[in-house]
Amino acid sequence: MSNIDLNQVKLAANTEIDNTSSLKELGDLRIKYLARKGIIAGLFDNINKVEATSRPECGKQLNALKQEVTEKINQKALQLETTQTQDAGAIDITADGILPILGKEHVLHRLIEDACEIFTNLGFEIVTGPEVETEFNNFTGLNIPLEHPSRDTFDTFYIEASKSNQKLLLRSHTSPVQIRVMKTRKPPLAVVVPGRVYRPDAVDASHSFMFHQIEGFCVDKNIRFSDLKGVLNLFLKNLFGEDIKMRFRPHFFPFTEPSAEVDISCIICKGRGCSVCGRKGWLEILGAGMIHPNVFKNVGYEARRYTGFAFGMGVERIAMLKYGIDDIRLFFENDLRFLKQF
Ligand code: DAH
Repeated sequence: MSNIDLNQVKLAANTEIDNTSSLKELGDLRIKYLARKGIIAGLFDNINKVEATSRPECGKQLNALKQEVTEKINQKALQLETTQTQDAGAIDITADGILPILGKEHVLHRLIEDACEIFTNLGFEIVTGPEVETEFNNFTGLNIPLEHPSRDTFDTFYIEASKSNQKLLLRSHTSPVQIRVMKTRKPPLAVVVPGRVYRPDAVDASHSFMFHQIEGFCVDKNIRFSDLKGVLNLFLKNLFGEDIKMRFRPHFFPFTEPSAEVDISCIICKGRGCSVCGRKGWLEILGAGMIHPNVFKNVGYEARRYTGFAFGMGVERIAMLKYGIDDIRLFFENDLRFLKQF
């Protein structure tokens, strides 16, 4: 066996491998050259006919040849497999892409963001608070004393067996964040608080045990009721449109004095009277008032030095009025047919 024999085998193998066009033919070539009774194995068998001194060198060259042919066949196999799958149409690189389904912001989230943006443009900052609150922040600090019947208005989920001496609960409104902020900071303050609140109401078309509120308050020297009116007027016109009218009705909240409920002219009938506004032409939209001096005392403010206004509104109620939705449960059922409309 000479170098010439080896070179001839190498040349023949290379040409044959290059010329194959199917995996089947390539398989045959693998057997022809590399099998136990194949050409290269035959050359190994003849190695004892080579002169003893050149045997090691000869063996080395044979091993190199075997490796080269093996690699060449493997490479060709890979190449043929790729072209074959492409030919079979498994990957059609010219096909149109499939548009992924895009998620959408929830209508309540959108509304909260829009409302917060209107207030930040007016100079308010956005603050959030925890949904698990102390009884003090949710009630006592807000001038809603224990056993006072007004506590019934804010029916509450209490949390059992708190280890601290403070009773814990799921906040029934966002107003406790007023207490949190005022306890830790000094005026001037202009704050808006969006968030979830909880009340143990039986679920129906207009009640849910969880809903959202947006709270706002402003404290400084010389804050007046007219400031409250100005801010709410701007807010409501921004949210519902320039033509909307606003009116204040006297009301009672323990944490504000005087207190008011604020109505807007009915957005469905424009004030003429329809079934949504109960023929009144007005829709109740939020509660508001001037912060009660007792609230200032409870957070350690000098009640004589500061005045402030506060307001609170239900986000679901506003969304229902704005979009003509008649069932609050729709917001939470996550039916895509409903959610996609906004
Ligand atoms: N916390 C009241 C509620 O849940 C809403 C409210 C009314 C908030 C008047 C206020 C306010 O800040 O001044 O019904």
